Amino acid sequence: LVRERKKTIEHERVASYAFAFDIDGVLIRGPETIPQAPKALRMLNGENKYNIKVPYIFITNGGGRSEKARCKDLSKRLKITVTEDQVIQGHTPMKDLVPVYKNVLVVGGVLDSCRKVAEDYGFKNVYIPLDIMKWNPSVTPYYQLNDEEKAIAKDVDFSKVNIDAILVFADSRNWAADQQIILELLLSENGIMGTICPTADSGPGLYFAHSDFVWATDYGLNRYGMGALQVSIAALYQEHTGKELEVTRFGKPQRGTFRFAEKVLSNWRRETLSEHVEQLKLERTDSSNTSHDHDESLFTESETDAFDDEDDDDDDVNDDNDSTTQINDPFSEKGLDLSKGSKIILELPPASTVYFVGDTPESDIRFANSHDSSWYSILVKTGVYQDGATPRYTPKKICENVLEAVEFAIEREH
Ligand code: G3P
Ligand code: MG
Repeated sequence: LVRERKKTIEHERVASYAFAFDIDGVLIRGPETIPQAPKALRMLNGENKYNIKVPYIFITNGGGRSEKARCKDLSKRLKITVTEDQVIQGHTPMKDLVPVYKNVLVVGGVLDSCRKVAEDYGFKNVYIPLDIMKWNPSVTPYYQLNDEEKAIAKDVDFSKVNIDAILVFADSRNWAADQQIILELLLSENGIMGTICPTADSGPGLYFAHSDFVWATDYGLNRYGMGALQVSIAALYQEHTGKELEVTRFGKPQRGTFRFAEKVLSNWRRETLSEHVEQLKLERTDSSNTSHDHDESLFTESETDAFDDEDDDDDDVNDDNDSTTQINDPFSEKGLDLSKGSKIILELPPASTVYFVGDTPESDIRFANSHDSSWYSILVKTGVYQDGATPRYTPKKICENVLEAVEFAIEREH
């Protein structure tokens, strides 16, 4: 039996290195799938000349739907099975805010898609701009709800509700209306619509799932993203108050998202290695006549750690304030803990190298370069970055597309 299992594992060895992929501009582009992407992922699933499986996760700033829906879509487009434990969206770490805020206004996405995501995360009272526009159509004088929007909007009296936080989950589909409402709440007395706080300091906290200024779609030129909306709101806020807008950012390149990603990757590697763990246990019970091929340190058992408080030796991604925005790190006071209800699990050494493939120098390459020297940044030319330009953050390698990136990394490792 031991010999049989060894044979299986020999055939399906698991790499000590790993991959993390950006999604938009690397694997997909609007409704299109990047043609080389399915093959690149099949290679990591073991279809390579070394018969090795390479663990991988996805880290996108995108969102607007549940992680489950995202996996379904990715699985279909890439013709592989993607599970929820492999995917981090821009708003995924916002789950950590559930115990902090009772009434939240969630902005972005199609109709009430983001309300559903926030409710799934556990937020108690989730409102969307359409609810406010239904409450009082004069809030947005140049936009009136259509029947579909009226049907999904809640009936709420916003003169009696304190909005505690504004969470921008996904790209706004109606910048004018959303900005009007966000600004009103930021300047309000305790987050109540129709009020004004003269000192502009009692409004709700403002959170963005990411800060990408542009992103790649199926159009030839990049399109403005959530970061551009943030710049616009900050300019309007400063015009009103003379003050900097205070914003808390999630997503890449933020340090907190990096820590979150490392934990997700480590859990996923553990999952991928589980068969090897079974093998080891089997070998241990039969230690008299079995020698170990694997490094035993991979399989020691201990309690998992929550995110630690150590300061990373990094380029501080929260230091790029301009004169209109003050950026907060959502993770600076309270670490995210993916190990809640912690149990005895297997402790692995970190991946020897994590190849991060992205298309946006400002978020992806900066993300991979800033936090841990074992991450290896690869910039592809299928998205925001265009051939011939000088990337603002320098990748370790530039490749034509994701397949070339995967082939390069596998060869570099063997
Ligand atoms: O809105 C999504 C976009 O800004 C970036 O997505 O996958 O390139 O991080 P991604
Ligand atoms: Mg991208």
